[in-house]
Amino acid sequence: MTRTSNPSSKRQIGVGGFVIGAREKKYLNQIIKSNRISYGPLSQRFEKLFARAHDCKFALFCNSGTSALHVALAALKERHGWDDGDEVLVPAVTFVATSNIVCHNRMTPVFIDVDRATYNIDPALIESHITPRTRAIIPVHMMGLPCDMDPILEIAKRRGLKVIEDSCETLFASYKGRKVGSMSDVACFSTYVAHYIVTGVGGLATTNDADLSVRMRSLMNHGRDSIYITIDDDQGVSKDKLHEIVARRFSFITMGHSFRCTEFEAALGVAQMEVKDKIVKARTGNARFLIENLKDLGEHIQLPTTPPDRNHMFMMFPIVLRGEAKTGLVNYLEDHGVETRDIPPVINQPIYRKLFGDLEARNPVARWINHSGFYIGCHQYLTRRDLQFVVDTIHRYFRGK
Ligand SMILES: Cc1ncc(COP(=O)(O)O)c(C=O)c1O
Repeated sequence: MTRTSNPSSKRQIGVGGFVIGAREKKYLNQIIKSNRISYGPLSQRFEKLFARAHDCKFALFCNSGTSALHVALAALKERHGWDDGDEVLVPAVTFVATSNIVCHNRMTPVFIDVDRATYNIDPALIESHITPRTRAIIPVHMMGLPCDMDPILEIAKRRGLKVIEDSCETLFASYKGRKVGSMSDVACFSTYVAHYIVTGVGGLATTNDADLSVRMRSLMNHGRDSIYITIDDDQGVSKDKLHEIVARRFSFITMGHSFRCTEFEAALGVAQMEVKDKIVKARTGNARFLIENLKDLGEHIQLPTTPPDRNHMFMMFPIVLRGEAKTGLVNYLEDHGVETRDIPPVINQPIYRKLFGDLEARNPVARWINHSGFYIGCHQYLTRRDLQFVVDTIHRYFRGK
């Protein structure tokens, strides 16, 4: 969205935007009228729409992408009897939540460098990181682009590993005709502020595995017996069923969490799912415009690429400088009202350095991206004028060098 709140510049072009429109208001008013705010009809509708859009049987709405990832790994760990300290492979470029949840589940993240062109986990490096204690891989579909899933799934199958897609940055995309979220044991999405679908806080876990969906739903709800998850579960049932529910509804079978959302977040989700194709069209169109108008700077910057076997949803628009630190260009853009963010860094973060040492020495592509990569917005609230301004500002920076 174009914002003018930055007094030092004429224009501020944000990395994300959000407008509560008529559609959102309609569903929010529906909740206010009905007085029903706990997990109910709108949450279930959001889950159904989301599952369908990702070719999955189940989608479970919870309070963040991190929570979804946390229960996904916890449910697999519990079901397969993995031990504390067992290893989970994660990419060396991702948001910290991907590896944080491995640690919170008392397992060990093992970092794998990413591909230079896509910024996603490099499948060619996976096998050499597998040990007798490796249990799972979490490929992360970064910034809107699916990972190269076939080699990842082939290795996982051959070596007996489970796969959790971290799709928090990538909704609706496909890889070789298969939807993100549907290719692995379980996938996790975020609907946090500035994401593709925005519910304020929010996240979803998708799966085709009924047992896993029951375990995850329970873990999101304090570890509660799945017989009573919503307050509707004891409505309209036979007397015998009611007595069974009454006997079990305060039964907690695992060490769960309070990861629930409300109907308010679901209302925002449902409203945006109804116009998701428009959002996709606007974002991918904006990204195409940026690529087309920045491609003459190819000797200085690497622009996003999309391999022909998948599509890019462009949650963000990444730019990586070829041979220098990002600081000069990033500061120039910020000075001129174009907001930037680091491509989510993890291995160079103080807590990761403290726990794991100098991981950048072993992950040169991640080091280059941490040093030289950032992203700008390409969201649906940007106008052609905004995008032209971004293009002109970047050109001006390189002309002045
Ligand atoms: C790759 C990745 N994983 C996980 C998350 C966590 O999602 P949330 O902020 O909803 O907890 C994010 C958030 O943006 C992310 O980018």
